[in-house]
Amino acid sequence: MGETIEMFEELPVQHPPHSISQSGLGAVWTQHKAQLIAKYIYLFTIITRHGAYIDGFAGPKRKELQDSWSAELVINTEPRRLREIFLCDIDPAKISALNSLVAQQGDQAERHYQVLSGDFNECIVQILGSGRIKDKTATFCLIDQFSLQCHWKTLEAIAGHKPEGSKKIEIFYFLGTSWLHRTLKGLTKNTDRADQWWGNGDWNELVTDSGEKIAIRLAERFRDELGYKYVKPYPIYHSEGGTGKVMFHMIHASDHPAAHELMARAHRNVTQAPELAEQLELELSTLTY
Ligand SMILES: C[S@@+](CC[C@H](N)C(=O)[O-])C[C@H]1O[C@@H](n2cnc3c(N)ncnc32)[C@H](O)[C@@H]1O
Repeated sequence: MGETIEMFEELPVQHPPHSISQSGLGAVWTQHKAQLIAKYIYLFTIITRHGAYIDGFAGPKRKELQDSWSAELVINTEPRRLREIFLCDIDPAKISALNSLVAQQGDQAERHYQVLSGDFNECIVQILGSGRIKDKTATFCLIDQFSLQCHWKTLEAIAGHKPEGSKKIEIFYFLGTSWLHRTLKGLTKNTDRADQWWGNGDWNELVTDSGEKIAIRLAERFRDELGYKYVKPYPIYHSEGGTGKVMFHMIHASDHPAAHELMARAHRNVTQAPELAEQLELELSTLTY
């Protein structure tokens, strides 16, 4: 495993999505997004042996579709190594669903659960100010927004929460590539929305870029402006097997050298036969966080 880490450290910090499709990683599709996140958390906590999960847009999109709700799958992932769970949503109906999900958990004495009702751009202040995410708390933050809801300043707060030298809170960020152009072009008066999302007025330049270029540009901003060491945009295709139109990208930003390898492994796990838990424990438990 030591060799693998060295190999990953030598890779360029950010790769264009094309290399991902070539390596087969493009074969992730919408229905598998939640399973991919839960599997990644499983692998992440094999290394960290603890952890915090922040889900900024946590309400179920399609509650009736089994195994499609990220928060539910992450919370129920065994072994239950996550110690801190923060779930936020702006819609009161989704808050009820989140509250009943938490109420079903039998481990509330061992785990801290917090459901936050409101705009994630405001709730993040409460989450980061809670004192529960310390310098060494391995933390994963899912930003599964509809389109432009997460403000750039929120990402800055998340990335800047821990002091220099600590591993930053990991981010897994939804970028609605296939409808972004339409959304941005449709903003005739309410351009504040896009300004807050992108952090400045430069989003105007995106309307002529391809979805893939926008994903790369945003990934570069995660690296250069937010300071993440390892950033990778994952294209999510419409159809199984990495075919059809790219519907959206998930941008993964981490300071851990094994992050890309874990995500690749999570992907293989979701789409193919699961690896033996004992084998994974053996291979990954030598890594440190
Ligand atoms: C794409 S859905 C999330 C899907 C969910 N992660 C899943 O696995 O099913 C987006 C969610 O964000 C919520 N939302 C929209 N704007 C928000 C905001 N400003 N702050 C917090 N939640 C918001 C919506 O109510 C919706 O539940």
